[in-house]
Amino acid sequence: MDRELNLNRAETFSFINPWIRYFLFFFSFLFWVFSLLIVAIGVYAKVQKATDAVRDTFLVDPAIILIVVGVVMFFITFCGCIGALRENIRLLKTFSLSLTLVFLTQLAIAVLGFFYSDQTRDALGNFMKKAIVHYRDDLDLQNLMDYIQKEFKCCGWNNYTDWSWNLYFNCSQENPSTERCGVPYSCCTPVPGEVVINTMCGFRVQTQKYLEATKSIYTVGCADKAAMWIESHLLLVGALALGLALPQIAGIILSQILISQIEDEINSVL
Ligand SMILES: *[C@@H]1O[C@H](CO)[C@@H](O)[C@H](O)[C@H]1NC(C)=O
Ligand SMILES: *[C@@H]1O[C@H](CO)[C@@H](O)[C@H](O)[C@H]1NC(C)=O
Repeated sequence: MDRELNLNRAETFSFINPWIRYFLFFFSFLFWVFSLLIVAIGVYAKVQKATDAVRDTFLVDPAIILIVVGVVMFFITFCGCIGALRENIRLLKTFSLSLTLVFLTQLAIAVLGFFYSDQTRDALGNFMKKAIVHYRDDLDLQNLMDYIQKEFKCCGWNNYTDWSWNLYFNCSQENPSTERCGVPYSCCTPVPGEVVINTMCGFRVQTQKYLEATKSIYTVGCADKAAMWIESHLLLVGALALGLALPQIAGIILSQILISQIEDEINSVL
């Protein structure tokens, strides 16, 4: 009787924890499906359109970035998913190593971005300048700029006079545009109780003094407003970074545990 029990236990005992195995499988599977979604969105955006304005502004087409990120994620999560399901050490090691590399790359970018914050600001400024220059060339770019200015209650990068970078809003005397010296409507401060929206509230404001301009538009540049936003939302920024890092760290640790359990299992059989 006792002997039978011991035998059964020896037969069913496994070094591999099913909870870890299925958790890793399920978790990789979720991100695997998610990666397919990212690739699909990237391909859709790529096929839909890629104007010269967008390409010039972003250096690299954002659709290409989505596709590359999605494809890399697809291969990594595929290794984790099938590796956990089939208890395949080689796939699990590939998963663990690539995830570690991806994690360290993100960490390096974050640390560099923090220590070289002036250069980061300049790079962002460069992007914003191009977005302002191409504001009227691409509807998506226009929507993005409008969204940023409305959301952060700001205008231009340094201040509202940055809109002179754009051909339509440029302040030089020779400019025949009706919007000369103006700013887009998204710079306008909302007027309480206004029935008919005055879309022309930004006209000619670049000729006005700062204090006068503050009456109708946001005069502070988006660079300062973004810096202020980050400073007042440090907790949220930290939580987002943690939300990005935690699944990766969990994936690395769980796959390492599973690898050593599978190795123990193999050694116990030998
Ligand atoms: C706007 O910013 C530019 C560049 O930083 C600066 O030269 C200019 O004096 C500023 N204008 C106003 C009205 O603050
Ligand atoms: C506005 O246009 C003039 C003439 O085309 C140009 O010389 C000037 O640099 C432009 N302003 C800005 C701020 O780009």
